[in-house]
Amino acid sequence: MKLLGIESSCDETAAAVVEDGHRVLSDVVKSQVDLHRPYGGPVPEIASRSHLEVILPVVEEALARANTKLAEVDAIAVTNRPGLVGALLVGVGVAKALALAARKPLVGVDHIAAHVYAAWMEQSPPPLPYVALVVSGGHTVVYRCDRPFEFVEVGNTMDDACGEAYDKVAALMSLGYPGGPTIDRLAQRGNERAFAFKPPLADRESSDFSFSGLKTAVRYQITGENHKGRAPLVLDDITIANLCASFQRAVVEGLLAATLRAVDAAGARAIVIGGGCAANSAIRMRFTQECQRRGLALFLPSFARCTDNGSMIAGLGYHEWNRRGADDLTLDAIPTS
Ligand code: KG4
Ligand code: ZN
Repeated sequence: MKLLGIESSCDETAAAVVEDGHRVLSDVVKSQVDLHRPYGGPVPEIASRSHLEVILPVVEEALARANTKLAEVDAIAVTNRPGLVGALLVGVGVAKALALAARKPLVGVDHIAAHVYAAWMEQSPPPLPYVALVVSGGHTVVYRCDRPFEFVEVGNTMDDACGEAYDKVAALMSLGYPGGPTIDRLAQRGNERAFAFKPPLADRESSDFSFSGLKTAVRYQITGENHKGRAPLVLDDITIANLCASFQRAVVEGLLAATLRAVDAAGARAIVIGGGCAANSAIRMRFTQECQRRGLALFLPSFARCTDNGSMIAGLGYHEWNRRGADDLTLDAIPTS
C-alpha cells in the first residue's frame, strides 16, 4: 500500500510517498527557517502563508520523485494535530481536496506520535512496553506505550518546549536562530560544570518539565541580575562555550531523569526519542550510555527524520488506517494535543 503523507504543522512544508509504512519512496521537505530567522522563532501567519505557496509543488515533487501518480496512491495521510492552527489548516485542506478529487481515503495523523514512529519506521518495532520522549521546538512530551500505537502521556512541559528553550537561550547570547544546533556545537568546547544550572524538572515525582526557570537562570548568570550586583558576564568565546555546555548538561540530565522515572514506572524495555532536539549530540550520547548500562533498547531517528517530515506521517498513517480505518471529510485541524 502506497500512502502520500502531508505535513504542515509548523515551519516545514513536507510531503512523502511511503509504501507499507516503512519503504520511503520519496521525502521532500521545504524548510521555512530562513523566513522565521529574523524573528527568532516561527511566526504563525508567515508559516501559513508560506505553506500555502509551496504545498502543491512540494506534493507534486514527492509524487514525481516516487515515480507515482496521485491516482496510484492508496490513501492520503495528513498531520491534523497538534500544531499552529493556520499552518495545520493548509495541509488538512490540501489533503481533503486531493482525497475528494482523486477518491482516496483520508487519514488524520498525530504529529507527536509520528515523531515517535520516525525513530523506528525502517526497523523492527521497539519491545513493549516502551517510553517515548519527543523533544522539539514545539513539544516536550513523555509517553508510555503499552500497546502498539497507543500513547499515554505521562509528562509534558508546563511552559517552554525544549527546542524553544534552546532557541531562547541562544538568543540571550546572540547566537542566531535556530539556536539548538549552535549551542550543541559550541557546548563541545565548553566546561559543563562551569555554571551550576538546575535540570528543568517540574518536581521530584513527575515526568513534567519546566524550562522557564532554567532559561531565567542563564539570563541572570549573563546579566548579573540576582547575583548580588555582579557585573554582566563578558561573553567571550570561552564563556559562551561554558554557558552552552552547562545549559545543555542541565537539559539533558533533566530529560534523562524524567524519562527514566517513566521507564521505572512502566517497567519499560526500551526508550524511543523523536523530534528536532533528538539530533542533539549530548542527548544521543547520554541516553545511549544510560540505556547500555540498564540493558534497555534505544531507538533514535536518523538526523533527517528528527525534524518535521512527510515520511513519518505517511508511515504512521498506514498503521492508523489499518488500525481504525479512514477519516471522513469532516477531519479538522486541532491545535492542541
Ligand atoms: O521538530 P522540529 O523541526 O520542530 C518542531 O516540530 O517544533 O524542531 C526544531 C527545534 C528547534 O527549536 C531547534 O533549535 C531544535 O529543534 N534543534 C536542536 C538541535 N537541532 C535542532 N536542539 C538541540 N540540539 C540540536 N542539535
Ligand atoms: Zn515536529
